[in-house]
Amino acid sequence: MLRLMPNDHAHLNGVLALTRRRLVQGASALAVAVRYGSRRAWARVASNTAVAGPASATTTLTVNGQTHRLSMDARVTLLDLLRERLLLTGTKKGCDHGQCGACTVLINGGRQLSCLSLAAMHDGDRITTVEGLASDQGLHPVQAAFLKHDGFQCGYCTSGQICSSVGMLKEWRRGDPSLVTENLDDDHPKLTEAELHERMAGNICRCSAYLNIADALREAARETA
Ligand code: FES
Ligand code: FES
Repeated sequence: MLRLMPNDHAHLNGVLALTRRRLVQGASALAVAVRYGSRRAWARVASNTAVAGPASATTTLTVNGQTHRLSMDARVTLLDLLRERLLLTGTKKGCDHGQCGACTVLINGGRQLSCLSLAAMHDGDRITTVEGLASDQGLHPVQAAFLKHDGFQCGYCTSGQICSSVGMLKEWRRGDPSLVTENLDDDHPKLTEAELHERMAGNICRCSAYLNIADALREAARETA
């Protein structure tokens, strides 16, 4: 689900080149110091170590409608930034490896895993977490359907399931095919059992509330059709 845009590549390459250069400088100085044991060489190691602090980045993010200009360590993931800096703890850290879907958020309306995404890559992006789905008019239809059908139990995976569902229904409505869509010319594939399972396959629920989640999604699909 992680997609790098051309600008992201350039930014990331810049950060990595800087980090690589510092690493090489430090490693070269260390090799000289170990080989010759001179005081000057060891001083060089110390100064390179001091210089080799983390690269920082400044990014403007609009999160749940509120714009933030943030300076951060360039290695901070979007997930950690949301939870630890902006205190939006509705987004959960499950595996931190892109395997469970607990950290799913919407970025510019599309679902993405925030644990696999560096915050610095999202300059100018619009991010919606589970806290930002409801409005003054009430719950988002997907949230209401989850409540009605008891689509959650432990609550740990639920915000990821809900954000992913919102993104998934949007993809389905605009006619995006999934891996199990049989007719790729069909602009409106039916949300069959197989389609539903495939489209939500990235979100794991360890306590198997899948049946209730599927019921909730079928209702939300009808409501938002
Ligand atoms: S925490 Fe991101 S996929 Fe598991
Ligand atoms: S409801 Fe959270 S893991 Fe199943």
